[in-house]
Amino acid sequence: MKTFRVALLANLTKNAPHWEGMPADQWDDLDSEGTIQSLLAALRAGGHTCEFLEGDITIIDTVRKFKPDICFNICESHFGDAREAQVPAILEKLQIPYTGSKVLCLALALDKPMTKRVLAYHDLPTPEFQSFERVNEPLDPKMTFPLFVKPSREGTGMGVSAQSIVKTETELREQLQMMIERYKQPALVETFIEGREVTVGMVGNLVGPVARRLPHDESLPRIQSGLRFFPPMEVDLSPYLESDAVYANRLKVALADQLTYLCPAPLDEDLVDELNWLAAAVFRVCGALDVARVDFRLNANEDWKPYILEINPLPGLSPGISDIVIEAAADGIGHTELVNMILETALRRYGLID
Ligand SMILES: Nc1ncnc2c1ncn2[C@@H]1O[C@H](COP(=O)(O)OP(=O)(O)O)[C@@H](O)[C@H]1O
Ligand SMILES: [Mg+2]
Repeated sequence: MKTFRVALLANLTKNAPHWEGMPADQWDDLDSEGTIQSLLAALRAGGHTCEFLEGDITIIDTVRKFKPDICFNICESHFGDAREAQVPAILEKLQIPYTGSKVLCLALALDKPMTKRVLAYHDLPTPEFQSFERVNEPLDPKMTFPLFVKPSREGTGMGVSAQSIVKTETELREQLQMMIERYKQPALVETFIEGREVTVGMVGNLVGPVARRLPHDESLPRIQSGLRFFPPMEVDLSPYLESDAVYANRLKVALADQLTYLCPAPLDEDLVDELNWLAAAVFRVCGALDVARVDFRLNANEDWKPYILEINPLPGLSPGISDIVIEAAADGIGHTELVNMILETALRRYGLID
């Protein structure tokens, strides 16, 4: 295989800005030095020359100095409603290729309500929702308790806890107050989906269109070719059901190594097919590229009907910890291979390899 100059662009937690009164989980979605080192090692094992560049404003200079053939981009960035799209926007301007989704998809996926509007337009199943910019906006009659309150534009379970499940108007208003004040962004309120938690990771790019096949054209072939799906992973929340029936920040960050991951998740083949197809449709309608992970809840009260929670076009890639890494491992693909698969998918998309 040809080798390339690859700039690894990421935001290290330790380089992130700090200020007084900032939420404790503010930078939980950024990357550790260990993750950066393992990504560099993986890319080097692929034969590539690579260097880590901090994905802040300095990359305008550092990336031009390094002159990469391609960037391996996992920047979450720090500020702004479309922060994950900022570094790709710079790379587009400089006409430097990069792995993964582009500006529009990254901006869209960071905004959960906006993503859900796109999913709803395509008849893809996502929980009923309402976006709140103010605490006292009237609740839409279609929204029935219990409801789930979360920030519109965060990840890694930030702002999610047992209190996110609200059963009364009073609890809802309390939670909205807290959420809007703390994260300074609209709060997303959804129907609470009681059930199991499953996530599907994939690498590749779709060959044909898949959107608008639900529910009308159920009989047509489901075109997913070009994407490789990893076995779905279930987070077994049963040991924590008392206090944390949701995949909360506390679970994701503090207990990551104590959680029970079931991978492959114990699901019927038909349901796995359905999840893969839905994941491909979400990938398509959101315009994702190269790699993504789609999160679902399976509704216990509707015969485990899958509901799409969100798409993560920048899924975590920490060895042994991140969901997609665990899923790839269940398919016999180690961290090094996964990282190089993502790189090769992007290189192929840009026509840099066959
Ligand atoms: N509508 C919902 N019903 C039940 N649980 C939910 C719902 N929305 C989110 N959750 C729980 O909160 C977790 C985090 O929500 P998610 O939308 O995936 O945000 P992120 O992973 O970006 O923080 C989910 O993994 C799930 O456990
Ligand atoms: Mg999620």
